[in-house]
Amino acid sequence: MDEAKLQEFMGRLVNDMGGAAMLASVIIGEELGLYRAMADGKPTTADELAAKARTNPRLTREWLSAQAASGYVELSDGKFRLPPEQAMALAHEDSPVYVAGGASVLGAMFIDKDKVVNAMRGDGALAWGDHHPCLFSGTEKFFRPGYRANLVSTWLPALDGVVAKLERGARVADVGCGHGASTVVMAQAYPKSRFFGFDYHAPSIAAARERAAEAGVAERTEFAQASAKSYAAKDFDLICFFDCLHDMGDPIGAARHAYQALKPDGTVLLVEPFANDKLEQNLNPVGRMFYAASTLICTPNSLSQEVGLGLGAQAGEARLRAVFEEAGFKRFRRATETPFNLVLEAQK
Ligand SMILES: C[S@@+](CC[C@H](N)C(=O)[O-])C[C@H]1O[C@@H](n2cnc3c(N)ncnc32)[C@H](O)[C@@H]1O
Repeated sequence: MDEAKLQEFMGRLVNDMGGAAMLASVIIGEELGLYRAMADGKPTTADELAAKARTNPRLTREWLSAQAASGYVELSDGKFRLPPEQAMALAHEDSPVYVAGGASVLGAMFIDKDKVVNAMRGDGALAWGDHHPCLFSGTEKFFRPGYRANLVSTWLPALDGVVAKLERGARVADVGCGHGASTVVMAQAYPKSRFFGFDYHAPSIAAARERAAEAGVAERTEFAQASAKSYAAKDFDLICFFDCLHDMGDPIGAARHAYQALKPDGTVLLVEPFANDKLEQNLNPVGRMFYAASTLICTPNSLSQEVGLGLGAQAGEARLRAVFEEAGFKRFRRATETPFNLVLEAQK
């Protein structure tokens, strides 16, 4: 046994355990509005913050101490301050790097731990809708900053001829749309186009309708509860799958359904978690996060549906290409990527 290696590994584990505990603290801070109350960057005492956020002063001091120990807030002369960079990640919902909202996805992993233990002892199945509801709102908040930052500015322009169609007026499907974060972003950008959101999870469809109404795009969006293999609408110029294909039991069936619902010159936009093709190439901080989520959320959902392919959240481009080729698509290419997303284009 190498004592130095043991010490180094224990240091990493202590760091990870602190990070996991701090995520609960981040979720609490987001829910109680503590970060937002500090977003002005002014130094504050615990009592002042507690008065502003209407929280218990003693617990607020403890919460601030944990934030300071993590470098999330700065401590100086007994006052705590949220620096502007941390505020972008923790307080400003419209920032492209806002992560505090998405932290509740990780909360759902802990809350639903017993269900995953049962799944792992059994057939591996745990359906999306059987998770704690914080997964659904957390997923919306986790992905929305990326859609706002990239979808209109980079991802759609990376597709062949799609932006011109959207500007003229196109029919667009957002399959597995969840709370409609991506649908709303596109509907806001292209007022002449019509957007159809489908998801098999009824509460998500209800939330998506609310989000579209709040954003003022209800008249050009339509949401329906439908699986990726069962929506009836056709003649789409663009069919999108945002971070959902790998969650499906039958991704090949979903791609086949998209094939027959697309116009002859239509395009599929497939956004999946960034991954390389080989496990060994994904043993890094991004792969670590996605494999963990895939174990607790994505793969059990796939195994809960018919076929139960279990693609996993780190499938990689080659595996995804095989899905689309098997469904009949002739052209498939990587249009662009971010450190967190593969952005792929499929055409007939
Ligand atoms: C990780 S979430 C992504 C949601 C949304 N696209 C987003 O980016 O915020 C995966 C979504 O796929 C949906 N889903 C899973 N299997 C499905 C299926 N077979 N048909 C339709 N939707 C499905 C889930 O209900 C969930 O809303």
